[in-house]
Amino acid sequence: MEPTPHLLVLDPQDEIREVCVSLIRNLGYQAGGAASAAEAWQRLEAEPCDLMLMDIRLPDMNGMELLQRLRQTWPQMPVLILTAYASVGSAVEAMKLGASDYITKPFDMDELRLLLQSWGRRLHLSPENQLRSSLPGQGSFGSLIGISPPMQAVFRLIMKVAQNRYPVLLLGESGTGKELVARALHYQSAFRDRPFIPVDCSALVPSLIESELFGYVKGAFTGANRNHAGLLEVAQGGTVFLDEIGELPLDLQAKLLRAIQEREVRPLGSTRSVPIDVRLVAATNRDLQAAVASGAFRKDLFFRLNVINIKLPPLRDRMMDLPLLIEHFLEKYNRPGGPAKSFDETALARMLRYSWPGNVRELENCVERAVALASGPLMQVSDLPSPMRDWGLAMTAAPAVAPAIRPLAETEREAILNALNLLKGDKLLAARLLGIGKTTLYRKLKQYGQLSPPAAEARSAGLGN
Ligand SMILES: Nc1ncnc2c1ncn2[C@@H]1O[C@H](COP(=O)(O)OP(=O)(O)OP(=O)(O)O)[C@@H](O)[C@H]1O
Ligand SMILES: [Mg+2]
Repeated sequence: MEPTPHLLVLDPQDEIREVCVSLIRNLGYQAGGAASAAEAWQRLEAEPCDLMLMDIRLPDMNGMELLQRLRQTWPQMPVLILTAYASVGSAVEAMKLGASDYITKPFDMDELRLLLQSWGRRLHLSPENQLRSSLPGQGSFGSLIGISPPMQAVFRLIMKVAQNRYPVLLLGESGTGKELVARALHYQSAFRDRPFIPVDCSALVPSLIESELFGYVKGAFTGANRNHAGLLEVAQGGTVFLDEIGELPLDLQAKLLRAIQEREVRPLGSTRSVPIDVRLVAATNRDLQAAVASGAFRKDLFFRLNVINIKLPPLRDRMMDLPLLIEHFLEKYNRPGGPAKSFDETALARMLRYSWPGNVRELENCVERAVALASGPLMQVSDLPSPMRDWGLAMTAAPAVAPAIRPLAETEREAILNALNLLKGDKLLAARLLGIGKTTLYRKLKQYGQLSPPAAEARSAGLGN
């Protein structure tokens, strides 16, 4: 059995420290507390730990300085920073000094829990199974992965709205995780022990959707030889997930709207209405607003469903999640007991450069396929599907993925040199497309040692004075 991970909380405020320590213990880890830098150091020397959570404001030492020393002495130990909301700047500063993540005070427990879970998973610390078993049903929050700021924002939003009963509309390209979010919303809610019922509005023929959603009574139509409760009724107290809501035919849209407004459904062929109390979560990868504009989707229903909306970012906009997702899917598809297959550097680099139009689903398929087909433990570019195999070659100009934090200057330099490269050295055009003045461009190039301008060029760029 793996040893239980050990976390250290350094915070001079007793109540915050205690709350953090007890939360960590609830997550199944060991936790210790320290009120000062000196105390933390002592503890670490006595027993190194796997992760540290520290406030940046300390009574006996400058937090940044402590952070630097921690990085030097225990470079493997991730340090998460606690910081007052007003000093996010210092958190960013701390990240530059090697902090791994930060959370602003005041934080709520869910936020901190998410942060720690996400780190736990990342460090292989997480008793993932423990987490899963603490949440009913599969696919609950524990399987939603993401450390990128946009995904963290999604998690926060989920935590915020999970407890109320307002309808939620999930938007996002195919494969971005809308269904997982719908499940997370349900399993994070107080009504998680009630049913979660997904209805795919695109898979069923319209008449079936109608009878499935609203139910029917015996004799309502040929073949209706018994009463059949609709899903809106079956889900009583729980969640109905209306997937691909954009595909719902107009007449059913009207019927659904009525059910939402009146909080009751009338099964087909019945004269009696049944009260319903469900949370509706709808999802679509279509532009619903455009559908409203073109008359394909009812505006009033759109407003009803769109009380809260959560937009799932495409994978290409949160590439910092890629390594973690790859790891997650490797774990999922590597057979227990068998050799653990992983990707070699080149394959990983290729994956990091790919644009993932099919988002997380495409990534998952890619990992599954590679694991199934690769002969050795180290999977290579040749084990990737063809769009990716060729991608790196055709797209050498594709932006490399940014690691967690990079100095802005470095990104800027890359953008400038890349633009010049693409524009075959046309500096005026490059400046225009980069949205900077040509003087600025020249100054930067000079800084990079990339400019030895002929006098005329320098003059025309206004560098002469
Ligand atoms: N953040 C995530 N962490 C882990 N797995 C994810 C994540 N997002 C998506 N997945 C996985 O990717 C696959 C696609 O996700 P999901 O079915 O939720 O997408 P979707 O947005 O509903 O797509 P579609 O619009 O095509 O129905 C699933 O197998 C899901 O488990
Ligand atoms: Mg889906």
